[in-house]
Amino acid sequence: MICKMCIVTWTLMPLFLAGVLCNTWEVVYHQQRICTVKGSSAVIPCSFYYPENLRVKRVMWVHVKSHPFRTLFISDRKMKQVTSTFQYFGDKHQNCSLKIHQVEHNDTGKYTFRFTTNSKGGKWTGRVGSTLKVVDLSISVTKLNGNGTTKEGDSVNLTCRNSCDGSKLLSAFTWFKNGEPITEGPTLYLSNMSSTNSGNYTCSLKTHTATTSGVIHIDVEYGPKNTSVSVRPSMEADGGSNITLTCSSHANPPVENYTWFKMDDGDIMDVGNGPVFVPAYWATCTRDVLIIATVAVLLIGITVTAVRR
Ligand SMILES: *[C@@H]1O[C@H](CO)[C@@H](O)[C@H](O)[C@H]1NC(C)=O
Ligand SMILES: *[C@@H]1O[C@H](CO)[C@@H](O)[C@H](O)[C@H]1NC(C)=O
Ligand SMILES: *[C@@H]1O[C@H](CO)[C@@H](O)[C@H](O)[C@H]1NC(C)=O
Ligand SMILES: *[C@@H]1O[C@H](CO)[C@@H](O)[C@H](O)[C@H]1NC(C)=O
Ligand SMILES: *[C@@H]1O[C@H](CO)[C@@H](O)[C@H](O)[C@H]1NC(C)=O
Ligand SMILES: *[C@@H]1O[C@H](CO)[C@@H](O)[C@H](O)[C@H]1NC(C)=O
Ligand SMILES: *[C@@H]1O[C@H](CO)[C@@H](O)[C@H](O)[C@H]1NC(C)=O
Ligand SMILES: *[C@@H]1O[C@H](CO)[C@@H](O)[C@H](O)[C@H]1NC(C)=O
Ligand SMILES: *[C@@H]1O[C@H](CO)[C@@H](O)[C@H](O)[C@H]1NC(C)=O
Repeated sequence: MICKMCIVTWTLMPLFLAGVLCNTWEVVYHQQRICTVKGSSAVIPCSFYYPENLRVKRVMWVHVKSHPFRTLFISDRKMKQVTSTFQYFGDKHQNCSLKIHQVEHNDTGKYTFRFTTNSKGGKWTGRVGSTLKVVDLSISVTKLNGNGTTKEGDSVNLTCRNSCDGSKLLSAFTWFKNGEPITEGPTLYLSNMSSTNSGNYTCSLKTHTATTSGVIHIDVEYGPKNTSVSVRPSMEADGGSNITLTCSSHANPPVENYTWFKMDDGDIMDVGNGPVFVPAYWATCTRDVLIIATVAVLLIGITVTAVRR
């Protein structure tokens, strides 16, 4: 077995020290700081070296939690189970890499590797370790019309950010609306929005859809649509019976105020409020009349005509 220390030493001091230093006990952590997104997997790359004539008996990773100060021992037997969070990616020769699946915030902290050999007292802990940092994806929102409510026709850009990337755009992202994947890329462009754009938006790493950002709730406001008036029992009511006028209209936020107007000989009178209107004078009318009711819903008017036979 040729170890890394041998090669390094050989080039520096070819004559004597190589053989001696090859007996070096060492754990090399190839990345001392590892940043990863919650929900993704992280690999801690690691190599270990020991005198050539020995055999490795046990390997072990220690998670030195930053808080509370607790040490978690992971035996190699446990690490063979792929279902567990921790998977030993290495072997019993030189590779001591550790893979952590579905990283959680509480996986943050320092990880160190130790191993024992068949020699009495022949064990080693690489104290330097690798430190794992766990971050969440975040979404920034840019709107042209300031920070207020979102209205029909507005444009909004949502940008997903992985703070592990620093200022660079390294990660590929997938966008979700109400949990369904809709598109890929760092920015989601929503322009000329309508009510169909309302929903809950999140992003994830393209490679790990289990990673997820906070939710951006978009609620596109719009004025009354599909305004209509229904007349019961019918537009041509029998003498002596009442009629009921019902106005329905969709808006976001919902229509609050309804006003009923009666047009009579060119005069316009405000005769009622609320979505349902029962003209009190209807049944008592003695002659055939034409009633024109105009309902105003946030400036949108519609006219309904009821004829008495
Ligand atoms: C260790 O083994 C894993 C899995 O086989 C491999 O992906 C990785 O590159 C190896 N790492 C080193 C440092 O050899
Ligand atoms: C870490 O957090 C996850 C989810 O919050 C939880 O299921 C798990 O038990 C925690 N692990 C430890 C060691 O506290
Ligand atoms: C969204 O991004 C595009 C392209 O960078 C830009 O032209 C547009 O003005 C942005 N819109 C908003 C609302 O920020
Ligand atoms: C919108 O931004 C202005 C300053 O740009 C601030 O004064 C105001 O409070 C903000 N309004 C809301 C609803 O956040
Ligand atoms: C969006 O999220 C809010 C709050 O979590 C929830 O009440 C609402 O039902 C969600 N909407 C959809 C369309 O999933
Ligand atoms: C915005 O959408 C509306 C309705 O969906 C459409 O009538 C209008 O032409 C669109 N405007 C632009 C600039 O695309
Ligand atoms: C208006 O009516 C149309 C057709 O019935 C329907 O597709 C649409 O969703 C309605 N709009 C609103 C805002 O209710
Ligand atoms: C019509 O409505 C008025 C007021 O609500 C009520 O007093 C009257 O009894 C109703 N007439 C009929 C025929 O239902
Ligand atoms: C509805 O009417 C009330 C009372 O007249 C008023 O205070 C409120 O601003 C109105 N709401 C809307 C959306 O016009």
